[in-house]
Order: sequence, then C-alpha cells, then structure tokens
Amino acid sequence: MARFKIALIVGSNRRESVNRKLGLALARLGASQFDVTLTRIDDLPMYNQDLEAELPDSVVRFKAELAAADGILIVTPEHNRSVPAVLKNAIDWGARPWGKNSWAGKAAAITGTSPGAIGTAVAQQHVRQVLGVLGVLVMGGEAYITFKPELVDEAGNVTDESTRAFLRSFIDQFSALLDRLSPAQQAAA
Ligand SMILES: Cc1cc2nc3c(=O)[nH]c(=O)nc-3n(C[C@H](O)[C@H](O)[C@H](O)COP(=O)(O)O)c2cc1C
Repeated sequence: MARFKIALIVGSNRRESVNRKLGLALARLGASQFDVTLTRIDDLPMYNQDLEAELPDSVVRFKAELAAADGILIVTPEHNRSVPAVLKNAIDWGARPWGKNSWAGKAAAITGTSPGAIGTAVAQQHVRQVLGVLGVLVMGGEAYITFKPELVDEAGNVTDESTRAFLRSFIDQFSALLDRLSPAQQAAA
C-alpha cells in the first residue's frame, strides 16, 4: 500500500488540547501508512472578505498545505454542540477566494474527543455536512471518543487496548480509502 501525506487539523487552539493529543496519537498509530503534518489553524485571522484582495501569509500557507495533502484528518472538540469557531474559520478560509476552494476533491476522516458521553458526535456531524458542501469525500463510519485523562499517555500512545484497536481500524479504513482513490489504483482499474 502507498504512503500518504496527511494534513492533521485539530479543532482546538488550547495549549493542552486533548484533541491535539488524540490527533498526534493517531499519527503514531498510522506511522507505517502516513506522513502526518500538524497543520496550524490558530494563526489564521478571523475570516474577512476584505482580506481576500491580498491573502494573509498564514492563509496562503494553510491553503498550500491542504493542496499538498493526499488526505485530511480532522480531530475536533465540540463547542456548544457544534464546530469550534477556530475550525470553522479555517474551513471558511480554505474555501476562499471564490474559485480557489482548496477543499474540493480532497478525502477526509473526522474524529474527536470530549469528556461528554457523546464524544463530539454533534460537532463531527456539522463538520461532515460543511465539508460535503465543499466537495470533500468524508470517510463513512463513526469515531466518537469519550475523553478520559488516561486516554493518551505521556509518550503519546493510546493506553486502552480496545480503544487503540478501534482507532487503528479507523486509520486502516482511511488508508484503504486513500489507496482506492490514488491515481496508481485508478490507472490499474
Ligand atoms: C466554549 C466551550 C463549549 C463547549 N461545549 C461542549 C459541547 O457542546 N460538548 C462537549 O462534549 N463538550 C463541550 N465543551 C467541553 C470540551 O469538550 C472540553 O473543553 C475539551 O477539553 C475541549 O477539547 P480540547 O481540550 O481539545 O480543546 C465545551 C468547552 C468550551 C470551552
């Protein structure tokens, strides 16, 4: 199976973000299949159409990172039963200016963690809906992870065996999807 370049986007700008920990743990779990780059979104300015005349450097960088990625892995918290503002802001910048939608044609997988019982399910559904509108193929299935302090250890590993197995199958599913979409596979079909 090919190796894929993955842009990891974490929907939290919090220093001690549990979603960043989960995202980096997923990167470790997928190390044999993926080259993962943590794609910053906390330096993007608040979206403003006036800024489109001369795109800020951080936006240019962000859109280039999306363009270079074979797949996008979004790991997000849920804020007030929806998408955190920092992530929605990044999604909006990626879609602009008109005609330069950096999301179109990309494949994405979405997961996230929160201490709540439904583990970011609503936020993930909202992200899925918005990315669908922007032409992203979002991997099917569900991965709503209830956060426990011991979920990821100091070394960045998922401690619970069954959660680790579940997350590995999530990674394997994403890898298989990207493989099916890869030009080499399509040429062979
Ligand atoms: C503004 C705000 C709104 C929140 N709303 C929700 C929510 O709707 N559902 C939920 O499960 N947790 C909610 N939380 C709690 C987050 O799940 C918790 O802060 C978590 O640590 C955020 O992830 P992070 O550490 O990656 O930033 C909210 C937290 C904040 C700060």
